Amino acid sequence: MKGIILAGGSGTRLRPLTGALSKQILPVYDKPMIYYPLSVLMLAGIQDILVISSRDHSDSFRALLGDGSRLGLNISYAEQDQPRGIAEAFLIGADFISDDQVALVLGDNIFHGPRFSVLLDDAVRRLDGAALFGYRVRDPQRYGIGEIDADGRLLSLEEKPRHPRSNLAVTGLYLYDSDVVGIAKNLSPSARGELEITDVNLAYLAQGRARLTELGRGFAWLDMGTHDSLLQAAQYVQLVEQRQGEWIACIEEVALNRGFITPEQCLRLGEEMRGTDYGAYVTDVASRRLPKLVLRAA
Ligand code: TTP
Repeated sequence: MKGIILAGGSGTRLRPLTGALSKQILPVYDKPMIYYPLSVLMLAGIQDILVISSRDHSDSFRALLGDGSRLGLNISYAEQDQPRGIAEAFLIGADFISDDQVALVLGDNIFHGPRFSVLLDDAVRRLDGAALFGYRVRDPQRYGIGEIDADGRLLSLEEKPRHPRSNLAVTGLYLYDSDVVGIAKNLSPSARGELEITDVNLAYLAQGRARLTELGRGFAWLDMGTHDSLLQAAQYVQLVEQRQGEWIACIEEVALNRGFITPEQCLRLGEEMRGTDYGAYVTDVASRRLPKLVLRAA
């Protein structure tokens, strides 16, 4: 399966922070925002990743992530010259996707919760059409809202409904089979001139091939589109990391756990960040995987 991080957009709600910087490069406590969606694709076992950003900012992402080889990844880059909608990712990424399955994650979303990689593995294994992830929200009128049967099959999907049929919001992580490119090519722009991801999902729904897995109550799904939500996300990450001593979206740790890099490679990455808590954490998770030196008394 291929992976796409959609890190374009205009970030108008975060101005003036986004005056010169991409939203998805902004700090979220101890790491750049894009680490969070990147870690989600890696948790799903994906190594071939396309980062789509606006032309102005693509150099920042290249400088930050390079070709991905240090993490055992293969990262490439593409540009979206105008924010013409989330579904445009499948046109920009058509050659990259080729005839493979693809996961799309929005560059400003955080997913964090128990057994997430198990849930992702399961969704990838069972993928037939579209796999979406739902999160219960208090204000369903603001989201794309899905209704499912007992088996998780999507029954209806409505964008910002006035009278919601459920409170399950569709989150910014979408898995599709290779039909998605053909579906995106046939879309017409919406009234606001965008290729809407909801229209892609409605096409799969019409074929009876869309599933929605609920992320349970112990889960956190956050987006970081406004000043308050950006600060709240940073505070959430700080709280969990300081309280539990387990880092969120530590891409070096995920690469190690997924077998993309060896403990020795991970150790070197940690040592490069020596002097920071982040670096110490990476060094620590790598050291725990290295064979212990047995010291014998002479
Ligand atoms: P949004 O938050 O809907 O839009 P935005 O990032 O442009 O911000 P604002 O509303 O403040 O102007 O986008 C969600 C994510 O999808 C975000 O990571 C940006 C990305 N995106 C694109 O890359 N291209 C697009 O055409 C759109 C609509 C979004």
